[in-house]
Amino acid sequence: HGYDLLVVGSANADLVIGLDRRPGPGETVLGSDLVIHPGGKGANQAAAAARLGARTTLLARVGDDAYGRMLAEAQRAAGAGTAGLLVGTADLPGTVDRPGTVSTDGAAQDAEEGKGAPTGVALITVDAAGDNSIVVSPGANARLTPDDVAAARDLFEAAAVVSLQLEIPLETVAAAARSAAEHGARVVLNPSPPAALPEDVLALCDPLVVNEHEARLLLDDGQPLSTEPEQWATALLALGPRSVVVTLGADGALVAGPGVDAGAADRIGTARVPSPRVKAVDTTGAGDAFTGALGWRLGRGDSLEEAVRYAVRVGALAVTRPGAQESYPSAQEVQAVGQERAQ
Ligand code: RIB
Ligand code: NA
Repeated sequence: HGYDLLVVGSANADLVIGLDRRPGPGETVLGSDLVIHPGGKGANQAAAAARLGARTTLLARVGDDAYGRMLAEAQRAAGAGTAGLLVGTADLPGTVDRPGTVSTDGAAQDAEEGKGAPTGVALITVDAAGDNSIVVSPGANARLTPDDVAAARDLFEAAAVVSLQLEIPLETVAAAARSAAEHGARVVLNPSPPAALPEDVLALCDPLVVNEHEARLLLDDGQPLSTEPEQWATALLALGPRSVVVTLGADGALVAGPGVDAGAADRIGTARVPSPRVKAVDTTGAGDAFTGALGWRLGRGDSLEEAVRYAVRVGALAVTRPGAQESYPSAQEVQAVGQERAQ
């Protein structure tokens, strides 16, 4: 394979403000100075994998603006390919809609002004405990289409693993998963932000990667959830994916699927993977670092359990520094964390 990992997804400028406490409705609070980081779940995954040494590339769309250039530069700096990084939207079919009318369709207005949709933006607040809340304005990400997937056929042909998240249109995610399957690539999917997936797409996920929040939303059938992540994983497998990984923050991760825990290849096993102890400074994008690292290791031929063991260390290091992409570790740092634990 030419690429260990192809990431299809979003690229956002992260506008981050630190605060002690989030405001309630109608309330104003003062926060820290604004910091702008490269982010977006897709761009984050590709940057994380590239920084670790993966041969990886990102299929995404940014606006023809300063944030778009910042994101392209961040991919290059991490060592990721940018052949699939599409810029601008004015050329997209369907973006011109009744010129002269005020439209609530952002694309139509942008096309009238001739500048296309802006780069996606994430408004992020990080509180004193290092927990974040995020509002994403998709911008150009919403204009990544199934046609873009079709046009990037050569990237799918060359990829061992294709990794997906849900900050781009669902139909584009579905097209990417199907293209991956057609070209014999393994699909890794993180349903974030959560949305209902077509059954055939869910059936391709190997693994479906969810955190606790996403697991609860996917499993919500009105019944109270058990407190045992092992039971969530089993219930998630019943929805159709080939394997499941539940990330558990400071508690590491849970892996479930055929052959896991030294079982027979046709037997479903589950395994807990602990996380090294770290001091959380900013958890933003730690899940993306985890999933990017996971996809890379699977692309290199690790078993799912081995790949998760590695990815847990990557995610743990990512929370020890501010920002998303800028906080991602090198392979040397990951190795050092492994050695500390062995002592
Ligand atoms: O997962 C973290 C990411 O979510 C941020 O980088 C932000 O851009 C949003 O996409
Ligand atoms: Na971080």
